Amino acid sequence: LVASLEQVDESYIMVKPDGVQRGFVGEIISRFERKGFKLKGLKLFQCSKELAEEHYKELKAKPFFPKLVDYITSGPVVCMAWEGVGVVASARKLIGSTDPLQAEPGTIRGDLAVQTGRNIIHGSDSPENGKREIGCGSTMALACQLYVIHVLNRD
Ligand code: PPS
Repeated sequence: LVASLEQVDESYIMVKPDGVQRGFVGEIISRFERKGFKLKGLKLFQCSKELAEEHYKELKAKPFFPKLVDYITSGPVVCMAWEGVGVVASARKLIGSTDPLQAEPGTIRGDLAVQTGRNIIHGSDSPENGKREIGCGSTMALACQLYVIHVLNRD
């Protein structure tokens, strides 16, 4: 039980183009650092249309898919690997609800955003997806070399 409570997870956190353009990279990193998580990899990266379509392929049938691809390719993103006990669930709390108008004040989206299509940041939704999104199975992590940076940082 103690071991499972202290499970060290990894989360893929991505500051989306609006978060970068509005100057929130430092603030977002600071919130994760102050909480106590460890930054294991970071890369400023311009995502191509092809890569965005691959990254969000599960959402291909959604009506908002073309807008999501346009949004995520509209400027550089900051790709990060964060590590720590319970980081995936905690990051979701720090980030707040997908719709920023539903996100609690005190959360990143609750404090800094108003639209789902401009919600500043992505965070992995499960420990399994955290590992996948920053691992060699993720085209995004491979393309931006986050995978390489993260593995080199392993202690
Ligand atoms: S869904 O519909 O339940 O699969 O959506 P959800 O899991 O909440 O979100 C998946 C990603 O799609 C983004 N999203 C949107 N983008 C633009 N417009 C609209 N309406 C919209 N709805 C959801 C949402 O932010 C998720 O992206 P990530 O990168 O994971 O944050």
